[in-house]
Amino acid sequence: MSRREAKFAMSAVTQTRRINIPDIRRRKDGQPLVCLTAYTTPVARILDATCDLLLVGDSLGMVVYGLETTLGVTLDMMIAHGAAVRRGVQRACVVVDMPFGSYQASREDAFRAAARVMAETGCDGVKLEGGAEMADTVRFLVERGIPVMGHVGLMPQQVNVAGGYRSHGKEVTEREKIVYDARAIAGAGAFSVVVEGTVESLAREITEQIEVPTIGIGASAACDGQILVVDDMLGLFTDFTPKFVKRYANLAGAVHTAAEAYANDVRERRFPGPEHCFGVPRAVRAVSG
Ligand code: KIV
Repeated sequence: MSRREAKFAMSAVTQTRRINIPDIRRRKDGQPLVCLTAYTTPVARILDATCDLLLVGDSLGMVVYGLETTLGVTLDMMIAHGAAVRRGVQRACVVVDMPFGSYQASREDAFRAAARVMAETGCDGVKLEGGAEMADTVRFLVERGIPVMGHVGLMPQQVNVAGGYRSHGKEVTEREKIVYDARAIAGAGAFSVVVEGTVESLAREITEQIEVPTIGIGASAACDGQILVVDDMLGLFTDFTPKFVKRYANLAGAVHTAAEAYANDVRERRFPGPEHCFGVPRAVRAVSG
């Protein structure tokens, strides 16, 4: 079978069954991985047909709960949203973020927390942040049946140590460390690695050096796939749009316009109309309609 035929066969397969972890791992083949975050069942249902992978990111702390950082996100929050997303999916692979504090202390703690996530959400794998220092934990989880996605470069759970959010890889020592980290995590058995907030040349180097797909966010088109926070790309925020985000819709504007129209209708007593009411005779409905 030629490479092209194999690609078509792969698409046919992925349309009829759920995309699994080995499918994602194989996507080092030039077919970009399409990924978005999702936090709820209805949004997961909408995204399922177009995305290869949905990440229940701990970004939900900011996006859904209005927290300042991801540090306040708990395992129970991740499990509740992970299960909600999984219920909305028939096709896409679902990965759930391990929240801050649930996996760093020891590999045994990490296993217990990750096993709860897998068992209680029905997701396909977990994601954790960290470089070489997490390699032993990644290996421990993978060897015990828990697929792990890595996350290097800008790591939001490290915001207090890093002193804020900034792009990585301009400086040689930092650059070498991030490549080393990505290689360590991939070598420990991660099925893919998120590369966040790095300069293009670094994302390219990591992508060339590891055997599993890289998934970029703010890390250029040099990665094997892309991910965005769904609310960012839908334009659900009114304040600030990061440089690496492309807005594909302006849902904040649409929601605002709809809310204004609703408010006017209520104030002018145009809503509810007879057609929205129980016990209103058909004749009245016809006259008003
Ligand atoms: O939490 C999240 O949404 C993430 C993505 C930005 C990769 O980790």
